[in-house]
Amino acid sequence: MKTLFKTWAASLLAMGVATSALAQSTPVKGAGNVTNTKVNGQQINITTQNAFAEVAVYSPSVIRVRMDKQPLAADFSFAVITKPGSAKANISQDDNQVTISTDSLRTVINKKPFAVTFYTTDGQIINQDEKGLGTSWVNESVTVYKHMQDGEHFVGLGEKTGNLDRKGSGYTNWNSDTFGYRTDQDPIYSTIPFYIGVHHNLNYGIFFDNTYQSDFNFGASNNRFSSFGARGGEMNYYFIYHKNVADIITSYTALTGRMKMPPLWSLGYQQNRYSYYPETEVFRIAQTLREKKIPADGITLDIHYMDKYKVFTWDKTRFPDPAKMTAKLKDMGLKLTLIVDPGVKAEKGYPVYESGLKSDIFIKYPDSTNYTGEVWPGWCHFPDFTAAAGRNWWQTEIKKYADVGVSGIWNDMNEISTWGQKMPDNVIFDYEGKKASHMQAHNVYGLEMARASFEGYRSALGNKRPFILTRSGYSGLQRYTAIWTGDNRAEDDHMLLGVRLLSSLGLSGVPFTGMDIGGFTGNPTVGLYTRWMQIGAFSPYFRNHTGVNTKSAEPWAFGEEALEITRNYINLRYRLLPFLYSSFYEATQNGKPIVRSMAINYTHDPEVYNAKFQNQYEFGNGFLIAPFISTDTYGTVYLPEGNWYNLYSDEMMAGRQQKIMPVSVQKLPVFVKESSIIPMQSLIQSTAEKPTDTLTVHIYKGNRNNTFVYYEDDGESYNYETGSFYKRTITYNAAKKQIVFAKAEGSQSSKFKHITLQMHGFANGTKLSMDGKAANVKTQFVSFLTPVSSFDPQGTTNSAEGHDVKTMTINNNSNTFTLSY
Ligand code: GLC
Repeated sequence: MKTLFKTWAASLLAMGVATSALAQSTPVKGAGNVTNTKVNGQQINITTQNAFAEVAVYSPSVIRVRMDKQPLAADFSFAVITKPGSAKANISQDDNQVTISTDSLRTVINKKPFAVTFYTTDGQIINQDEKGLGTSWVNESVTVYKHMQDGEHFVGLGEKTGNLDRKGSGYTNWNSDTFGYRTDQDPIYSTIPFYIGVHHNLNYGIFFDNTYQSDFNFGASNNRFSSFGARGGEMNYYFIYHKNVADIITSYTALTGRMKMPPLWSLGYQQNRYSYYPETEVFRIAQTLREKKIPADGITLDIHYMDKYKVFTWDKTRFPDPAKMTAKLKDMGLKLTLIVDPGVKAEKGYPVYESGLKSDIFIKYPDSTNYTGEVWPGWCHFPDFTAAAGRNWWQTEIKKYADVGVSGIWNDMNEISTWGQKMPDNVIFDYEGKKASHMQAHNVYGLEMARASFEGYRSALGNKRPFILTRSGYSGLQRYTAIWTGDNRAEDDHMLLGVRLLSSLGLSGVPFTGMDIGGFTGNPTVGLYTRWMQIGAFSPYFRNHTGVNTKSAEPWAFGEEALEITRNYINLRYRLLPFLYSSFYEATQNGKPIVRSMAINYTHDPEVYNAKFQNQYEFGNGFLIAPFISTDTYGTVYLPEGNWYNLYSDEMMAGRQQKIMPVSVQKLPVFVKESSIIPMQSLIQSTAEKPTDTLTVHIYKGNRNNTFVYYEDDGESYNYETGSFYKRTITYNAAKKQIVFAKAEGSQSSKFKHITLQMHGFANGTKLSMDGKAANVKTQFVSFLTPVSSFDPQGTTNSAEGHDVKTMTINNNSNTFTLSY
């Protein structure tokens, strides 16, 4: 009896769980007590009764925790591209705990049982393992339970449906083809196991780098903890602490990488449907865009361009001469993007299949036969993109598209999607030589396909930037590709969900994002289409797409008024390209997204998490967008801290208040933050066209300090990586009442010979001086939209609002200058 009791007590201790009777028989295995530690530079290796752990300092703000039931395997990740840095860290310990101190945070590892708490340097708890639960295993599943802090909010986790605040919800990561998904469906196409927690004026990020099916619980059906875990593999997470969310995103993207400059043309408007064919139809669309003066840069071809959906082929009847077609489109200022699917039809004599067989690059069953799954072309094999050999093979094939002048590659069906959506667990992937089952490799397949397309196409195009788009992905996808949110529905709720998906992806390190504008399934109403196109103009990847059996969805398909409104916003998008391109440059530098959830800059304002305002977002550094649905005639906007200008009227409103305003489908509610610096150019019909030689910089008077880095380069090559760019920092110093344009940097000169400053909110009589001399200021009428000529039921709001601004034009000689007021 005595011995029995001892064994029972010992096993309870070993589990590191409370000594309750229940714990005795549970199949849940905790880490147990720490039995051994070994400090190794900036990391500590820990053995517990049931597990092996390693806690390492990546930077003063980034701590990695790894844990497994067996000794830790050699480190490997498809997502993380950095190693621990050489930050100063002090590791000390006594019988009860290990303490790791950096300049930014203190990590305390409790020894009995193993449990981790992260503190600020002044002792506030940022995040803490839930007492009694900690890290535990159920068979091969591993989970860590974190104490749910009072009032804690959770944002991020990549492409996840539902509310901006994830509190009260649970999520699964398993990349899935979810045609016409519901607005609360989970999972959908992509996995980014990174989220941000917010409480008590603190915020932190957690990146759980485990590619198995993973589960996150932010208080769904429990009021005790938030948790994350996976069906296999290690507990392996990076804890990131900074005082503000933007820096957390910067640290997360230091780990997982940042995007490169996109080709400028990919920021223009893209016209698509499933599918434009034959070639004459493509030209009809191109011609109509030009005739109707709808600026556009791209046309995308969906699966019907292929011969019976076979990848790397052309239907020669529909598209007899692809090279001639791309050349003609190029003359019209349009670039071509093609869809590619990973499934290679298993058909004797089809050269792509034969070459894949010969190179032996398909994923396999354990008996070495190629896995066969059914998708568009019929029964297919699938290249193993987790192997260099598979990616190299893809590169050879994809070059064929570069040879005929295709500029962009759209990677679809890469979850992997197969009819039946039940790919067997026992399919084997190379996983960079480590061999992994489908269970481990599934969530990275899309990432690695996008990588193969990016690397392959980049090499095929020489020094030109490819545009790559993907549907599926994993953390780090931003290094290679843009992402869109798949097969949404032409419904108001989906438009708003789309906005949140882009916000969430932005919070999760992905700046280049888009959704099917207008909706993929179903037909939008005129109002919904119009509103969606307006929002599209304020989204990073602006592509109109619709499904195979829907009505036409080009801007001219919804009547004259919709056309005029849509054109207004596409025009605005093109005039904003200098602002947008500079915003992308910022993303390449610090990972900051283009679509910025209000949780980034107003993290501790409770209204940000109010479902009523969760669809609002900032677009770059300057704009606040409030996307109401088309049938709303009144709406409530929440203006966060600071002063805000109505884009159209220049009316200034104080922030930290709700504002009820009339809304009409003619105008998307857009606000500009005080002290903003917004560079714009003249209207062009395509980025192949040169704007006039004047850059217009809008300056909004305000009380905050602000910095905007204006950036230009050739828009198409990688020469910027070796200094071929033009960049200048523009600073708004509110206390000094000055706007300073610093001297230009980089070896390129600006394409703009003149700069026109347009100053908003500066009252009549304001004395303005340029480098100390009274400035020659004029008054000018400014309007961001042209009047919409067609009907308006009330007959009152159909003209575009405008207002006067102070303006002056100077030569852009790239030297520093100061505007004072
Ligand atoms: C998938 C894609 C969709 C595409 C269709 C045909 O459903 O998500 O965008 O149009 O396949 O290729």
